[in-house]
Amino acid sequence: MTMKEVKIPFLIVVVVVAALLPIWVLAAAKQHHQEGGEKKKLRFGSDGQFKILQVADMHYGNGKTTTCLDVFPSQFPTCSDLNTTAFVHRMIQAEKPNLIVFTGDNIYGFDAADAATSLNEAFAPAISSNIPWAAVMGNHDQESDLSREGVMKHIVGLQDTLAQVNPSDQDVIDGFGNYNLEVSGVEGSGFENKSVLNLYFLDSGDYSTVPSISGYGWIKPSQQYWFERTSAKLRKAYTSKPQAQKAPAPGLTFFHIPLPEFASFDSSNFTGVRQEGISSASVNSGFFTTMVAAGDVKAAFIGHDHLNDFCGELSGINLCYAGGFGYHAYGKAGWNRRSRVVVASLEKSEKGGWGAVKSIKTWKRLDDQHLTAIDGQVLWSKSSAGMRRKKPVGGT
Ligand SMILES: *[C@@H]1O[C@H](CO)[C@@H](O)[C@H](O)[C@H]1NC(C)=O
Ligand SMILES: *[C@@H]1O[C@H](CO)[C@@H](O)[C@H](O)[C@H]1NC(C)=O
Ligand SMILES: *[C@@H]1O[C@H](CO)[C@@H](O)[C@H](O)[C@H]1NC(C)=O
Repeated sequence: MTMKEVKIPFLIVVVVVAALLPIWVLAAAKQHHQEGGEKKKLRFGSDGQFKILQVADMHYGNGKTTTCLDVFPSQFPTCSDLNTTAFVHRMIQAEKPNLIVFTGDNIYGFDAADAATSLNEAFAPAISSNIPWAAVMGNHDQESDLSREGVMKHIVGLQDTLAQVNPSDQDVIDGFGNYNLEVSGVEGSGFENKSVLNLYFLDSGDYSTVPSISGYGWIKPSQQYWFERTSAKLRKAYTSKPQAQKAPAPGLTFFHIPLPEFASFDSSNFTGVRQEGISSASVNSGFFTTMVAAGDVKAAFIGHDHLNDFCGELSGINLCYAGGFGYHAYGKAGWNRRSRVVVASLEKSEKGGWGAVKSIKTWKRLDDQHLTAIDGQVLWSKSSAGMRRKKPVGGT
């Protein structure tokens, strides 16, 4: 090729690049804004509250052609995944949460013809509400045509989600969907730049990958190490100026599979019901102890066992099921599908403005005509926890 022949296409390229440059710059700026910018900032509202809606086990299939499980015989003809969708919409409307958290088995992969389509439809009510949302995976999300990595990557690409595939500050970590979110104090208050509530999301896996160990997956040492470091980092920021606090900000964890410690309760010391066994991994990962040692976590929220919906407190941490949400998930006819709500409330500071988190409460709502609220309880309050025991200092 001679120089002359090259010149014309080169000039065209230059002109085209010059014309497109502003568009690229704008697109890149927008992308940057969405990735690291304002959109991801969670904050308490001017009413001093932050409300989380937990949706466990939607088990979404293919929409209106996917039948329901465990409803009364007369209900089968008119029941499908669309009932699950309607329930998400109703919960959002009734509670107007600040964040929606999906704790896994969002889709039931075995019955989903196309994982991406099922995920899109499952999360559609959250997306159309414009409310920020987060999700972790259960043991069924990867059973269609996407791997666990593929499912999490798809979720992270959806609109308004704060979910992340994995943290950027640790090279090696097991699973997909380990990340944390910070919730800042009220704008204009002394806590406007501090995370006063810390949310941790972890991938509890699907099934054991160790041949000699059968059963479900668990939270691995690499994930626990990340959690410990993150908790210690957040504690350091919270107990430093400005507004240096004595104890760490309360934390909440969200994952799918119960820890063996969920079996520590009976009806004398939990709120809610236990109607089936605790399907945890056959080994104890130690994550409960890790949470207790970190000192900030006040409650853990999971799904997996659809017929259990209780909260019980062990060593200062409330272990909470949400109860089954989805209609294509096993359940019990006559025992309504349900959802959990968690609200953190701020205290008034000495100067009269909003301060740190004072209490964390929860209740559930049933998918009946009136979305009946049940089992309201206080999970944690600042004064009582402060009295109970001295928090250990440190971390990793
Ligand atoms: C499912 O939704 C349909 C349409 O709104 C309704 O008629 C039916 O009662 C719902 N089924 C259940 C079990 O809630
Ligand atoms: C929070 O950060 C902003 C921006 O850096 C600053 O203007 C504001 O004074 C800070 N607020 C507090 C309470 O420190
Ligand atoms: C709950 O009560 C039972 C006895 O009814 C007891 O065995 C168990 O240790 C208690 N659990 C906790 C966490 O206090």
